Amino acid sequence: MKITKLVVASHNDGKVAEIKTLLAPLHIEVQSAKELRLGDVEETGKTFEENAKLKANALSLMCGLPCLADDSGLCIDALDGRPGVYSARYAPNRDFNEGMKMLLKEMDEAEKKTRKAHFACYMALACPNEKVKVFEGRVDGEISEQPRGDKGFGYDPIFIPEGYDKTFAELGDDVKNQISHRRRALEKFIKEFK
Ligand code: IMP
Repeated sequence: MKITKLVVASHNDGKVAEIKTLLAPLHIEVQSAKELRLGDVEETGKTFEENAKLKANALSLMCGLPCLADDSGLCIDALDGRPGVYSARYAPNRDFNEGMKMLLKEMDEAEKKTRKAHFACYMALACPNEKVKVFEGRVDGEISEQPRGDKGFGYDPIFIPEGYDKTFAELGDDVKNQISHRRRALEKFIKEFK
């Protein structure tokens, strides 16, 4: 199937910018749901995969175009995988500085003394009249003792990817876009549609 136009089902500017950069080599016209003034879809699923699928399907129905939706989040081993699918909602009023403080405190108090964590990303592609396809990516790493760095978004200041000693927020987009969970999911998408 040849895709020439794609709607990215996200209202998160940071994520949309990353996805646009990563898809640039495909020469697909990419627009976000926000740019098209399409409504937000409620994430009622219990897993990343369910949420990605329901967002992609709902948006594709709304606009009649192929839609790519991602659901992603931070899964911390010491917290049994939380905040996971609730990563966005865990931060009060989407204040991620506060959210990071809360997570670090929860980890201090947790019985499991591991700092291991991963970012997970599930990308669902819904095309009109076709079965939705899902692509998955993850990046493993550790949670830093304190937030560090001012680049990126969300929980980037507390996530140190494996093989590095800096957080995503210190490393910045060039490095992050090479190794991120979104990159890895999109690579699978790109392989299928190149
Ligand atoms: P959703 O996929 O829009 O439901 O939101 C996922 C949430 O997970 C985001 O709001 C961020 O808080 C967090 N998240 C997902 N990917 C990243 C990332 O690459 N860096 C930092 N935080 C992320």
